[in-house]
Amino acid sequence: MSSTASGAAKPTVTVTLDGTNRSTTLPLLSGTLGPAVADIRKLYGDLGVFTFDPGYGATASCESKITYIDGDAGVLLYRGYPIEQLAEQSDFTEVAYLLLEGELPNASQLAEFRKNVTYHTMLHEQLRRFFDGFRRDAHPMAILCGVVGALAAFYHDNLDINDARQREVAAFRLIAKVPTIAAWAYKYSIGQPFMYPRNDLSYAENFLYMLNAVPAEPYVSNPILSRAMDRILVLHADHEQNASTSTVRLAGSTGANPFACVAAGIAALWGPAHGGANEAVLKMLGEIGKPENIPEFIRQVKDKNAHTKLMGFGHRVYKNFDPRAKIMKDTCHEVLAELGIKDEPLLDMAMEMERIALEDDYFVSRKLYPNVDFYSGIILKAMGIPTHMFTVLFAVARTVGWVSQWKELIEDPAQRIGRPRQIYSGAPTRDYVAVSRRD
Ligand code: SDX
Repeated sequence: MSSTASGAAKPTVTVTLDGTNRSTTLPLLSGTLGPAVADIRKLYGDLGVFTFDPGYGATASCESKITYIDGDAGVLLYRGYPIEQLAEQSDFTEVAYLLLEGELPNASQLAEFRKNVTYHTMLHEQLRRFFDGFRRDAHPMAILCGVVGALAAFYHDNLDINDARQREVAAFRLIAKVPTIAAWAYKYSIGQPFMYPRNDLSYAENFLYMLNAVPAEPYVSNPILSRAMDRILVLHADHEQNASTSTVRLAGSTGANPFACVAAGIAALWGPAHGGANEAVLKMLGEIGKPENIPEFIRQVKDKNAHTKLMGFGHRVYKNFDPRAKIMKDTCHEVLAELGIKDEPLLDMAMEMERIALEDDYFVSRKLYPNVDFYSGIILKAMGIPTHMFTVLFAVARTVGWVSQWKELIEDPAQRIGRPRQIYSGAPTRDYVAVSRRD
């Protein structure tokens, strides 16, 4: 223990190198909620050793005030507000303000924020040409990644990350333009004309409009689908220091511009172990085909040699139900009922798979529960969103989380360039041998 100025004992952790008289005392830091952290910044200087934590399962990479997750209790808070209450009572634009600014907006703040986002949804007209460079069958995540990164080529007035106003405008531009780019990537893939954003529609309605409207006839918003889309966007908006957010923070720590950082986050989200899982769940259910094939599939999952994962299950942090999965499952039932879809074989199969897995010791012993991706794809399919657009939709939602975390990083006076170390197990020092003398 060390002491504070008032004499109160400050918690510490002492590390001793066995077989030596060398030890060091590290501060034990506590946040508002969650586990305390051992501040190891002086460990290498004092003892000459690194810590080793591949995948960062036990490492706090930063201090943040944005999102809190309790994986054992299945709790998710955005700026302290439970995700269940936000999903039920708020909407995506208000949640975006909350994540960015830290507090729920009053009426005039919300109106101003909505206006700022709405009036940044259009793209520079020259950006249209970027799409022509892609094959029609390009994965929309490839297009999204490329075009978002290219925004940096159009906003030179927005690249000074040390200027608060430029950071604010970059945030508006990214939150507002990513849905337009995402929708245009889809339109490009089906050979339909791009639909320009409409300022009279809400964020979710506008996204669905740009995805589904055609110039040949009037478009009618479906309030059920708009509400479901808005809720899905809220559920995916942020999630602590996940792989793509950590990618954005690492890129941001070098001083890279926000468009490049978000493009890096999109690339990381694409992986099937992360944001690509919603697309992989639908592919998995399609390959299983019918409920009677589930037991054989579960057998393959348990056979390590089969290298088969139950997509949409498991999570690095949640060792209980992902609270988003529960909301998503309820929303799935609501949307299907409101759309008059009586029986959706994919939903029946997903629910049967969930029932079987939650009774099987392989999954129970490993604390594998449905995560946010397990049901989202079924809703999106019911809403007419094509499977290859599922992860794109995840990126549309997560952009505000990435931007909020990037902003917090840049505004943190303690932030430094991210530069992890390693344990080296390669060749020891050795001399060069001329090719004529090699075997
Ligand atoms: C997201 O981090 C975030 O917050 C991400 C996210 C967000 O909002 O940003 O929540 C979004 O990415 C959700 C996760 C979507 N991914 C999937 O659904 C893909 C399937 N899930 C797995 O790939 C896996 O569960 C991970 C990647 C999600 C978590 O991997 P971990 O924490 O490294 O888990 P692990 O490999 O340590 O698993 C422990 C055991 C292992 O078995 P043993 O070696 O102990 O025998 O559980 C097994 C794993 O093989 N396991 C699975 C499994 N997930 C883990 N076995 C079968 N199916 C699975 N899905």
